[in-house]
Amino acid sequence: MMYRFRIIAENNSLLRVKVLRGKSIVEMTAPELQERVAPYRRVALDIGAGDGKFVYRQAQTHPDAFFIGLDASPANLTEYAAKILKKPAKGGLANVLYVIANVEQLPAELHGLANDIFINFPWGSLLDGLVLGDARVLANIASVAAPDATLEIYINYAVFSEPVPVDVAELPEMTIDYINATLQPRYAAAGIMISERRYLGPEAMKAIPSTWSRRLAFGKKPQTIFIKAERPS
Ligand SMILES: C[S@@+](CC[C@H](N)C(=O)[O-])C[C@H]1O[C@@H](n2cnc3c(N)ncnc32)[C@H](O)[C@@H]1O
Repeated sequence: MMYRFRIIAENNSLLRVKVLRGKSIVEMTAPELQERVAPYRRVALDIGAGDGKFVYRQAQTHPDAFFIGLDASPANLTEYAAKILKKPAKGGLANVLYVIANVEQLPAELHGLANDIFINFPWGSLLDGLVLGDARVLANIASVAAPDATLEIYINYAVFSEPVPVDVAELPEMTIDYINATLQPRYAAAGIMISERRYLGPEAMKAIPSTWSRRLAFGKKPQTIFIKAERPS
């Protein structure tokens, strides 16, 4: 379904964060955002949130934490963005916000905010940045991390096996050796210290409450690489 988004306050400056409220994009200032997250013990940020299901489910399970789902595209987020506004009995949640932004240009309001960062099954320029260890993308991810934040990344490496889709054909193959030899030093240079890296099979993928984890887990090539990292203070 195609949606037409109503931009309530158009402003391309990075001084406000663009938030999806139902089908409308509204702008939120840093103090407004701080006020929303203040009552919560931790703030979690899902970069490349897709339809927003992962943060919605996590927010239901962890009512003491605030969850921000961030994606470059608002189109897939509208269902959950509308659902969180409903009454609690109908699925409404106060501890979720959906933000529209590119990882290449993150709003300054998010700086230092996230205690836990998740990136689940990225594609496009987000995947490129993570697989290449792009200095700008990694610096941006590091910039939104609070002191001692954790970062968890799930990358479906089956996209790198034959036949390789055109949009990943230029990327190096994701393997544990590649992470150790190439990505670990690049991530460390951005202040992101990789502490775990391992392959996950379909059962582990099914346990991740995101739409793409399940789609890929039941697909033909259910192999994923999990990377865990910390951003020391
Ligand atoms: C395969 S979907 C995964 C969605 C969700 N994480 C899941 O597991 O179901 C990849 C998402 O990454 C987003 N994405 C790609 N490049 C991005 C970028 N540069 N900045 C922010 N989001 C990006 C896309 O819009 C898409 O929603």
